[in-house]
Amino acid sequence: MAEGCVLKTPIAERRTGWLGPVGKVIRGWNAARCWARYLSRGRHDGLSGLLDFTLGNHFFCAMQVRSELRALGELLTSAPPTCAMEIGTARGGTLFFLTRLATPDATIISVDLPAGRFGGGYSSARRRVYRRFSRGAQQLYLFREDSHSPETLAHVKGVLAGRALDYLFIDGDHRYEGVRQDFELYGPLVRKGGVIAFHDIVDGPHENVGGVPRFWKEVSARYAHGEIVADRKQGSCGIGWLSFE
Ligand SMILES: C[S@@+](CC[C@H](N)C(=O)[O-])C[C@H]1O[C@@H](n2cnc3c(N)ncnc32)[C@H](O)[C@@H]1O
Repeated sequence: MAEGCVLKTPIAERRTGWLGPVGKVIRGWNAARCWARYLSRGRHDGLSGLLDFTLGNHFFCAMQVRSELRALGELLTSAPPTCAMEIGTARGGTLFFLTRLATPDATIISVDLPAGRFGGGYSSARRRVYRRFSRGAQQLYLFREDSHSPETLAHVKGVLAGRALDYLFIDGDHRYEGVRQDFELYGPLVRKGGVIAFHDIVDGPHENVGGVPRFWKEVSARYAHGEIVADRKQGSCGIGWLSFE
């Protein structure tokens, strides 16, 4: 499996998990240190600094391959979204990435479970941290809900209030039916010319990619699309994007 995409416990949490409340303080301290390092140095280094932070720290680590995330970053940089949504946030790495590449006045929506499959959602404590990801006048909405429920769809539509999404990143329920539902429910909210990206399009063991590669083969046959894959044999990851023209 390629570097940067293993669904393991963040190192800081693994090392300190057995310490209980002391571990919590240590984890908080580690996260604050990463954040301070990013603010003082990383953010001045453009996409490279952003990738270093997003993939190199133990707290917010994105479950992505560096070269693939870079290519996705370049795609977003070429047309920064003002209205964007992510399904599957987990440790927050891809959400942080999105807040940095979206416009400073963007509306950004994240949907993830309080605890779930393929990485396990995130806690209310993390939610308090993620709320601080927004910059400038960005409006960040964090729904800790099932993306497939009608209530969640209604919440998302409520936030959009008739506006269309420029960008949708689907990295939530990896079962074939799960990814298909996410596409069918939220795809229609994406504007003409907007982008829908899927993570884990590369064939691999079911526990890594679920039914995403199968769904990707079907859906990519119907739309203009591109693939960002570091290595066809990496057994997971790979980003596929569609453009609705
Ligand atoms: C692979 S992780 C996301 C990784 C993240 N995008 C990154 O690259 O760092 C998948 C996430 O999808 C969430 N998920 C699974 N099924 C879901 C559902 N039905 N609704 C919302 N989120 C879901 C899981 O809780 C998990 O946090």
